[in-house]
Amino acid sequence: MRVRRRLLVANWKMTRTPAAAAALARALVAMARPAEVDLAIAPSFPALDRVGAALSGTGIALAAQDVYVEKEGAFTGEVSASMLKDAGVALVLVGHSERRLLRGEREPDFARKMERLTEEGLAPLYCVGETRAERDAGRTADVLRNQLAALDGFSAPPPGLTFAYEPVWAIGTGLAATPRMVGDVHALLRAGIAVRFGPSIAASTRILYGGSVSPGNAPGLFAEAEVDGGLVGGASLVAKDVAALLAAAAAPTTGAARA
Ligand code: PGA
Repeated sequence: MRVRRRLLVANWKMTRTPAAAAALARALVAMARPAEVDLAIAPSFPALDRVGAALSGTGIALAAQDVYVEKEGAFTGEVSASMLKDAGVALVLVGHSERRLLRGEREPDFARKMERLTEEGLAPLYCVGETRAERDAGRTADVLRNQLAALDGFSAPPPGLTFAYEPVWAIGTGLAATPRMVGDVHALLRAGIAVRFGPSIAASTRILYGGSVSPGNAPGLFAEAEVDGGLVGGASLVAKDVAALLAAAAAPTTGAARA
């Protein structure tokens, strides 16, 4: 029996209209799913309502791709944590590398986002990971340490806090990190969580891997005891691929825990 239930989060990014997202959600609801793996779907904001309706009562959680740093007010175009909560969202991505790179968001923004989510009882899925240049320069551990600093203001972890290790060079490139690399980084992250919040919280915190997860590489990645599931973009848009990923996540681990 695993200590941490595995979780697969489908990040649909800016790819589906609400009608198409609802149809894909219904296809996922219709397929058989292993009971031992949790599944969450993060569609675009306008699709939350229709995807939420399709997921209602199915045990598949509704997730959102982002949240704004402020609670409420004159912030045209932004979406608050209370709006997401009202829409039925349970889990929210924070710190995705596409927001770091394209929108210039940084750790202080992520800290505020996690505060807003905590106020509303929503779980953050905090995404961290190094660029190719940072890995090549041997700076991966430093980069992750700096990214964990978004939690500096928290004396206890935000409820439901989950991590996603997503090396930037692996996202959408078809070049996933190797299981060994991922296992090592997850162990490093878990040690960082232990320093911050204590060993028992570290042992119960889920750390997902993201970056070109596919039906081909998932069995190897999910064989790692340190890998608690996946944050999946491209492959999460194909129902039969999601079924394959869930099956891989349900399989027992063979790799050693390195924490
Ligand atoms: P990918 O995206 O699976 O398409 O690489 C992962 C992500 O960005 O969360």
